[in-house]
Amino acid sequence: MAVIGQDIGLAKRVLEVGQLVGIPTETVYGLAGNALNSVAVASIFETKNRPSFDPMIIHVPSLLEAENYVNDIPTPLRKLAEQFWPGPLTLLLPKKKNIPDIVTSGLDRVAVRVPDHPLTLELLAQIDFPLAAPSANPFGYISPTSPQHVDAQLGEKIPYILDGGACKVGLESTIIGMEGDEIVVYRLGGLEISEVESIVGQAKVKSHSSSNPQAPGLLESHYAPSKPFIIGGLDKLISEYQSSGIDFAVLSLDRLYQSVPSENQIALSTSGNLKEAATRLFAAMRTLDESSATVILAELMPETGLGRAINDRLKRAATKG
Ligand code: TXA
Ligand code: MG
Repeated sequence: MAVIGQDIGLAKRVLEVGQLVGIPTETVYGLAGNALNSVAVASIFETKNRPSFDPMIIHVPSLLEAENYVNDIPTPLRKLAEQFWPGPLTLLLPKKKNIPDIVTSGLDRVAVRVPDHPLTLELLAQIDFPLAAPSANPFGYISPTSPQHVDAQLGEKIPYILDGGACKVGLESTIIGMEGDEIVVYRLGGLEISEVESIVGQAKVKSHSSSNPQAPGLLESHYAPSKPFIIGGLDKLISEYQSSGIDFAVLSLDRLYQSVPSENQIALSTSGNLKEAATRLFAAMRTLDESSATVILAELMPETGLGRAINDRLKRAATKG
């Protein structure tokens, strides 16, 4: 198991010798290494079991610092950075040569963001390199939203996890870039599209893997629990599974079911608040994945606010029939 603590100096020393640290962000925990050190970046791929064609996000302490690693930030994207950094927004920008090709899997654009977490911002201020950090989970599994989640799956492989508590957003960042004059959303995430559009006007959502093999975070099957994960109307699913005799668990937005044992069900927000639901989603999926049930039954959220990004994750987690 890894050591879990709040020692920024220790995290810095581990990173400086090319090793990896679990870092807190407002979205999910990251598995961080020195983005300018190709060997450190290679060990991130290896530790996560991640295919090398799946590029990584670099984390910097400010927009000013980002300019050391990217060229010509288009005006609309600069406006988004000024408005939403630090925050759950990742921008795809033309990379400078100092970013090794292994970080971007050979692509011309690098994904950059300023995470909104005091410990990680302090760490980033103290080191003189950006941090490459994918979510700190084995490739394809649910992203971690607590240091314990990171420890449970990667603790054997990394020396240190910086403990920043539970993530306050709970969904990965929204990924945005430009194609010609068009603002394109490559991954729905913790920053709502309506907020993006309030600054730059209409954005095109293009978060489908088949048309976008460059971003495997957008693979149709991703963020998935190990048990079958079935999405549908819960009343109908529950009665079907009750009559089949198969042991099931239930993930709902706001309803608890009297006919289901309480330890086998989670309502993400009993008041139906989608921000609260987002914060709790991944931890709830993990808890039910570890329950005694054989399958997990879940319902989609309303397609408003963060509901859209939550539904994106639920659909990618779903078992394809
Ligand atoms: O909230 C987040 O974004 C978290 C925290 C740790 O910052 N990170 C995260 O990283 O979710 P990861 O690696 O799990 O997902 C990043 C996604 C991947 O789907 C990757 O394919 C895409 O970003 N991506 C990264 N660089 C890219 C690039 N140059 N072009 C296109 N897609 C890129
Ligand atoms: Mg990920």
